[in-house]
Amino acid sequence: MIRDLLPGFAASAEAFDDGAHAPLFPEEETLMAGRQPRRRRQFATSRACARRALSDLGVQSAPILPGRHGEPRWPAGVVGSITHCDGYRAAVVARSGEAAAVGIDAEPGLPLPEGVRSLVASPREAASLARLGAREPRVPWDRLLFSAKEAAYKAWFPQARRWCALRDVSVQLGAGGTFTAVPPTLCPEGAGYEGRWLLHAGLLVTAVLCPADAPGLPPETVID
Ligand SMILES: CC(C)(COP(=O)(O)OP(=O)(O)OC[C@H]1O[C@@H](n2cnc3c(N)ncnc32)[C@H](O)[C@@H]1OP(=O)(O)O)[C@@H](O)C(=O)NCCC(=O)NCCS
Repeated sequence: MIRDLLPGFAASAEAFDDGAHAPLFPEEETLMAGRQPRRRRQFATSRACARRALSDLGVQSAPILPGRHGEPRWPAGVVGSITHCDGYRAAVVARSGEAAAVGIDAEPGLPLPEGVRSLVASPREAASLARLGAREPRVPWDRLLFSAKEAAYKAWFPQARRWCALRDVSVQLGAGGTFTAVPPTLCPEGAGYEGRWLLHAGLLVTAVLCPADAPGLPPETVID
């Protein structure tokens, strides 16, 4: 699924359960010590996906540990992103010579729980959700908006190194499987990440990839 959302130079891997053997490096084992078995399985399967994707890029297997803010720390010269939700785990990587940033997110293909939509959508986005819902009621548009923002955040954070709220990311959804996401202070003005989405087998998956030759982000306040 995820491969369909990204250009050919990005490598990806996905899993729909935690059945495959997914050994961890000792540093990763230490990180998971004492964690719930469910979290350990989710972590291990998504690391296995990441290592398969890295291997497709020709990058040697290595521990993928989190930074101070949860962001995965990739081998030098690589950008990437990880997602997991019930029934799905995935990782995407690309050479930093080809991609400046990548972000992926997976969600159950169901509407957001009651009361969450207003935390996610600006008034302009809420109006567009209503229009899109009238045109294509099969798609849980509010969940898709949320997922697009999460994917954009995961691409943006390693560059910007600061937190932002869901309402700070402005998203324009396209009915044909595309979207544009503009996180705060992305240059040039009005530009954003081009994203793609798909809804398949009860899963909603979103991805953004910023090509390496796209204009960069301005310097930001580093929070760590
Ligand atoms: C980080 C965040 C985006 C994760 O999304 P999620 O839907 O909860 O969970 P997912 O399974 O899709 O993704 C989890 C993975 O995201 C990655 N991740 C975590 N923090 C990250 C960050 N700051 N930057 C980039 N990637 C990050 C990790 O790889 C993590 O998996 P791992 O812990 O097994 O390595 C979300 O939990 C979060 O904290 N958001 C910040 C607050 C927020 O929502 N801001 C607005 C965003 S627009």
